[in-house]
Amino acid sequence: MKVQFTETILRDAQQSLIATRMPFETFKPVLEKLNKAGYYSLECWGGATFDSCLRYLSEDPWERLRKIKEACPDTKLQMLLRGQNLLGYKHYPDDVVRLFVRKSVENGIDVIRIFDALNDLRNIQVAVDETLKAGAIASGTICYTTSPVHTLEKFAKMAKELENMGVQTICIKDMAGVMSPKEAYDLVKAIKAEVSIPVVVHTHSTTGLGFMTLLKCVEAGADVIDSAISCFSGGTSQPATETLVYTLKQYGYEVDVDENICKEINDFFKPIRAKALDSGLLNPVVMGTQTDALIYQIPGGMLSNLVAQLTAQKKLDKLDEVLLETPRVREDLGYPPLVTPMSQMVGVQATANVLAGERYKNISKEVKSYIKGEYGQAPGKVSEDLQKLVLGDEAPFTGRFADTLEPSFEATKAELGSKAKSDEDVLSYIAFPMQAEAYFAKRDEKERNTFKYTIREV
Ligand code: CO
Repeated sequence: MKVQFTETILRDAQQSLIATRMPFETFKPVLEKLNKAGYYSLECWGGATFDSCLRYLSEDPWERLRKIKEACPDTKLQMLLRGQNLLGYKHYPDDVVRLFVRKSVENGIDVIRIFDALNDLRNIQVAVDETLKAGAIASGTICYTTSPVHTLEKFAKMAKELENMGVQTICIKDMAGVMSPKEAYDLVKAIKAEVSIPVVVHTHSTTGLGFMTLLKCVEAGADVIDSAISCFSGGTSQPATETLVYTLKQYGYEVDVDENICKEINDFFKPIRAKALDSGLLNPVVMGTQTDALIYQIPGGMLSNLVAQLTAQKKLDKLDEVLLETPRVREDLGYPPLVTPMSQMVGVQATANVLAGERYKNISKEVKSYIKGEYGQAPGKVSEDLQKLVLGDEAPFTGRFADTLEPSFEATKAELGSKAKSDEDVLSYIAFPMQAEAYFAKRDEKERNTFKYTIREV
């Protein structure tokens, strides 16, 4: 049996450990090795990489992608896409989603992992359709969570619907690292029994379950697993690539990843890790094992947000109450997976309920639009009392939210005028308006300076 690897060093690993602050020039020298290591794919784009390029690194994310592609012609490049929300949290009209997908593929992406925070498949349909039209691989993604409404049968049914949609692989995305080895084994088995396409598993090492979970997934028949080169692995990042390769080869699995090249890649990243530790960019806390998430059944990131929120309001003594209120709010909202932005919405609401001494005295704007149906279909039933409180006698919206949006690409392009030099620029602006504008201004300034310099040279 063959097991393949997706290496996350350029996206999730550095996002989880060093807030995606690695400039292209830093990892450029190792791209040739990453290209030859024998990975199924190299995750390098999407998520926070785009924002971080524009906001902190003064890099054009599209240009970064093209340069990675040039250096890695033999390995599939992969990105993460939040369906109709692209890289953010609001819904975009279909014309923007389609162009974003098409341009991503044109600029070098081969695999697009597409998910929706609520697992509402209507929110990933258009992105999947365009990925297939553009000739790339669509990985239909299921956000893993536990609740009375998230049963093995439902997950398996979702996988079947994704397969019918035309995706080439199914990805199980355990964004919080809370999927246990047993749950993972049962889930992969259940999905494998339902679909004939490969199953990919994504998890994090946060709670310490990662290695065991991936091993059990492989035993259950998973085809591709996500891992990170060892010196950027562990903690909130992925389990280590080399360790998994070593273990799986011993068990007789066919693995294409070359240990010697992995060693060279890891040696390359060691001084970068050391520097990040020295500067404080890499905080040793995120590299440890944090098991509180297993007790509270909420992701580690969400737990630290709650603590920070309460500390800021000098109410940390209310933490236990908030932790009891959190699952109740989640139940009232129909058990959304605790992934951004739902994790923040549930946490903020639970805190507000406790601090006000009265449940739902204050309801955030986001929770209101969620209850109105603007984020998509809730996995379970939303509490009728809460629905009444927000909507009165009005019925919630049950359609696909993007259907209410007018096409907007051409209008935005016209509005930007000469500030945008390409359609890619327009898409950067649509995804991150302020960051993109600031980046365009800096880029213009740099070009003017280069021009002046050239004139003087002449
Ligand atoms: Co992740």
